[in-house]
Amino acid sequence: MTVGNGVVSVGVIGVGNIGSVHAAQIFRGSIAGMRLGALCDIDPRRRETLRAEYPDVPVFADAEALLAGSDVDAVIIATPHPFHAPIALSAFAAGRHVLSEKPAAVEAADAVKVTDAAKRSGKVYGIMFNQRTDPLFAKARELIRSGELGALKRTSWTVTNWYRTQAYYDSGSWRATWNGEGGGVLLNQAPHNLDLWIWLAGMPSAVRAVCSEGKYHRIRVEDEATIYAEFPGGATGVFITSTGEAPGTNRLELVFDRGRLLLENGRLNVLRLGVSEREFCFTSKAGYALPEISEENIVLRPERDGHSLILEDFARAVLTGSPLLSPGADGVNELSLSNAAYLSSWTGKRVELPLSPESMSEFRTFLAARREAERAGRPAPNPACASSNTVDIKPDEYSARWTTRW
Ligand SMILES: NC(=O)c1ccc[n+]([C@@H]2O[C@H](COP(=O)([O-])OP(=O)(O)OC[C@H]3O[C@@H](n4cnc5c(N)ncnc54)[C@H](O)[C@@H]3O)[C@@H](O)[C@H]2O)c1
Repeated sequence: MTVGNGVVSVGVIGVGNIGSVHAAQIFRGSIAGMRLGALCDIDPRRRETLRAEYPDVPVFADAEALLAGSDVDAVIIATPHPFHAPIALSAFAAGRHVLSEKPAAVEAADAVKVTDAAKRSGKVYGIMFNQRTDPLFAKARELIRSGELGALKRTSWTVTNWYRTQAYYDSGSWRATWNGEGGGVLLNQAPHNLDLWIWLAGMPSAVRAVCSEGKYHRIRVEDEATIYAEFPGGATGVFITSTGEAPGTNRLELVFDRGRLLLENGRLNVLRLGVSEREFCFTSKAGYALPEISEENIVLRPERDGHSLILEDFARAVLTGSPLLSPGADGVNELSLSNAAYLSSWTGKRVELPLSPESMSEFRTFLAARREAERAGRPAPNPACASSNTVDIKPDEYSARWTTRW
């Protein structure tokens, strides 16, 4: 298999809400370095529609058939989360590059297996953390990495503007179920923010969390979560997310020894201290004095949508070997943080990171018990929870949620 004429031939596996956006952008020629080589969906009605829409593109019934029957160089996996890891493993075994939708898997243990398989195969493995392309987050990262703000002391992110109605949860039978999805807001909406939190603040070394299941909706999985994180070096953090608040808040604060970053309402507010606060604290003669402070406000708007930028970045990595903006391996950290939060909430214990093999196995046991209870139809934690799965979501209503919302 060769990457022909400087173009990566791509198969999209799972062509629902987001998969159809990726397929359409590639087919239209909007993604430099990519062409649409194949499509795959397990739903026969989707396949019929796809054949009508893309008469010259081969359409397959499952991932194995696509991998065996097409000559695509790479696949984009846009199925429900539980299929991301098994399909990625098959694709690497078949010598294909992989771009996976987030999250990398449901269990961090599976994400580790995919990362190992990617390394062994020598193929490119990317993940669709499209909010990394937002210039405001990139600027914040650049400031932090320059070292001018000093050591991190504390961070808090309240990201509760992931509001979802019951109609959203009822729009697909896999949604908001332990069996079909494997989790709630932490696994579906917040992965972007958890990834960015790690991208900016670094990986926590331990968490405690409370995840409230079916608090605001008729669902069994959590629709609100609060994580308390400890970072190496002593910094602490709080992460709050919810799909049950309207209009909700998106406010990220990072406090350092020599300043503070605040991202809210599409603006990065930078406060810089003239001296190190730790030094000032023990050298200032005045009890209530503050160090000298300067302020800068930065507003940067994305030039293009983040999905296309990640697609092009991935194509470039396949064609030229350039480093990825969003490597698949980073999906392990993001998923470890959310797995740890679930485990802490389920056990009431502090969970250390990186996840130990024992914690991974305990997570699997607790998740299996929830899946079993769901299959057996045993009462959900919140008795109001019972989903009917009957409502359709209009595509434009859905796509309005893809980019960063301030
Ligand atoms: N990066 C983002 O901004 C973003 C946005 C939306 C969705 N997503 C992610 O994309 C994934 C899909 O979400 P969606 O909203 O498009 O879901 P969806 O239900 O609309 O689409 C999923 C499609 O996959 C098909 N499918 C299911 N199992 C399959 C299998 N084993 N093999 C092949 N096809 C299969 C379904 O028939 C359906 O057409 C999720 O993991 C979600 O987290 C990411």
